[in-house]
Amino acid sequence: DKANYRHFMAKEIHEQPEVVGQTLARYIDTACQRVALPVKLPFDFREVRRITITACGTASYAGSVAKYWFERFARVPVEVDVASEFRYRESTLQRGDLAIFVSQSGETADTLAALRYAKAEGAHTLAVVNVPTSTIARESETVLPTLAGPEIGVASTKAFTCQLIVLAVLGVAAAKARGELSEDEEIDLVRGLVEIPRLMSAALTTEPQIERLASDIAKARDVIYLGRGTSFPIALEGALKLKEISYIHAEGYAAGELKHGPIALIDETVPVVVIAPRDRLFEKTVSNMQEVAARGGNIVLMTDAKGAEEATLDTFATIVLPDMPAAFTPMVYAIPVQLLAYHTAIVMGTDVDQPRNLAKSVTVE
Ligand code: F6R
Repeated sequence: DKANYRHFMAKEIHEQPEVVGQTLARYIDTACQRVALPVKLPFDFREVRRITITACGTASYAGSVAKYWFERFARVPVEVDVASEFRYRESTLQRGDLAIFVSQSGETADTLAALRYAKAEGAHTLAVVNVPTSTIARESETVLPTLAGPEIGVASTKAFTCQLIVLAVLGVAAAKARGELSEDEEIDLVRGLVEIPRLMSAALTTEPQIERLASDIAKARDVIYLGRGTSFPIALEGALKLKEISYIHAEGYAAGELKHGPIALIDETVPVVVIAPRDRLFEKTVSNMQEVAARGGNIVLMTDAKGAEEATLDTFATIVLPDMPAAFTPMVYAIPVQLLAYHTAIVMGTDVDQPRNLAKSVTVE
């Protein structure tokens, strides 16, 4: 049931504050402002020497964001890989390593095969899944559910932001177990997490502006997305969403990589979407934007009020998102990139919920 929406994708984008709130409620003890995983972990984070995160597509980008969190909060090395590579490259897992798998459907063939491989190697396996009855959920040692509810649109939206929530909580739990987090720091992070549904609702109010922008994006042949730190995987996600539902070619790059090749693509016809909350890396990203502007590129800047004020350069459009703690911007910045893909696809007249050549659940490799 699409409620009053034209597409499942639109409904699922708008449901995010609610389902993210539900997922948070399962993972946070709001009364004492502490993280509280719904299951007891069968391993001790202090003994985990390495974490691998394996998934496909959008779920792998949730894993890429989580890498920054695990490394920054918990000081544990993390490797992220797409499942189709992980399963065949004879990854060197050791007994006691933690292998995390992220999947909406819980049926993705490559992710399942990677899970079986990790189990056979003696790693602890933990799955972040949206379908609790799925094969990946059944076969994994530990299951952390996302509470996104059924996701019907082929392009993943609400499952992605719920995956981010679960992985963020797990990162905080790991940091705590490893003695990397004071009580005050934990409370601070938890407060930040609890605010996310409200901030996502605020991000949804940018929709009319993004809808107007979509008619310009729809004229482009190529679109580039840039971001640094946790915004880099959001750039990759923005590019994937745009190409899969609007069929416009798009690429996401780490902003600092621009000058190592992709900058050759920039001219007046190439919109460059820059995901740049005003965090500690903001200045660096602004200088990358200046390089784009100097070559006539049309910048679509996604930032907060402070960022909009400080980035003194001409943009084609600036989308102003709410101010928020730097750690958890990916959940909120996912929304404008989803909306931009959605509205561009509408202008293109594509089948948004059932894009060509794609299936919701990829059960063959
Ligand atoms: C993109 C998309 C795909 C899936 C990928 C993994 O919008 O939906 O990239 O994220 O096929 O699927 P799951 O999460 O079911 O393993």
